Amino acid sequence: MNLEDLHNKTILITGSAKRIAREIVLDLSKYKPRFILHYRNAVKEVEELLNEVKTFCSESYYIKADFSVRQERDDFIKRISQENVDIVINSASVFPKMDTWNNFDYELFQKVFDVNLYTPASIIKHVFPKGKKGIVINFLDASLDFNFTDHFIYRLSKISFEKLTYMLAKELAPDVRVNAISPGAILPPAQLNEYDQIEEKKEKEEIINFYEKSKQKIPLKISGDPKYIIHAVRFLIENDFLTGVNIPVDGGEFI
Ligand SMILES: NC(=O)c1ccc[n+]([C@@H]2O[C@H](COP(=O)([O-])OP(=O)(O)OC[C@H]3O[C@@H](n4cnc5c(N)ncnc54)[C@H](OP(=O)(O)O)[C@@H]3O)[C@@H](O)[C@H]2O)c1
Repeated sequence: MNLEDLHNKTILITGSAKRIAREIVLDLSKYKPRFILHYRNAVKEVEELLNEVKTFCSESYYIKADFSVRQERDDFIKRISQENVDIVINSASVFPKMDTWNNFDYELFQKVFDVNLYTPASIIKHVFPKGKKGIVINFLDASLDFNFTDHFIYRLSKISFEKLTYMLAKELAPDVRVNAISPGAILPPAQLNEYDQIEEKKEKEEIINFYEKSKQKIPLKISGDPKYIIHAVRFLIENDFLTGVNIPVDGGEFI
């Protein structure tokens, strides 16, 4: 699909109000698609985003749902099933702080898998019934092959999501192309993102150290940036001969 053809197409993007997904929306808005902007808590941010894009992207709207809450998830799926969606970008994700083997339990497992695996799978299933054409881009994580044990359930959920991407690429061909992007250290974890509001010198230093350390670990020795992800999103939309592909965008960190 040419990016120019996005005009008149509908893009559903989850977790769209902030960070990487927000930058994707702002970039693709140049092509005047109609957006369905999903958010969970970031109501102020999603309102601002809609205001920024709605002049060009008419009939766009936002929709709230916490994917870990069954009723909200079901209502969301019901609502989007009635829409004629052309592109799904599954970016919403939960990344719990205390997600270690020590803390492994059913509640946390259920929550993380509901948000990071069941909901995006369910979105794809209901948006693309048999014969409906479209494009899916799933967000994974570049570090999945290394069996790290921090962020235990998060990693398990993203590994399963990777397999789901390949399985659905087969299952839904030739109608739907299903691909993935695996970011490396593109942005620091959300909790480090309130930099300007932080008074404590020590905390600021920790954030600067995070950037510096992550840069040193990366063979290309440059910091991540959403602009590199946007490049991959554009490529996956445009290339009609790709399905079942996962593009690591990590500066070579996980070679
Ligand atoms: N940033 C990176 O460097 C990096 C690295 C590796 C992988 N990734 C992956 O790339 C994608 C984008 O990353 P990101 O850092 O921009 O996003 P993020 O901060 O991890 O999360 C994006 C959004 O997900 C939504 N979300 C969280 N819990 C939810 C729930 N229970 N129900 C519904 N939505 C929920 C939140 O929406 P609200 O704000 O509206 O509550 C949040 O803003 C994610 O899938 C992430 O795992 C990113």
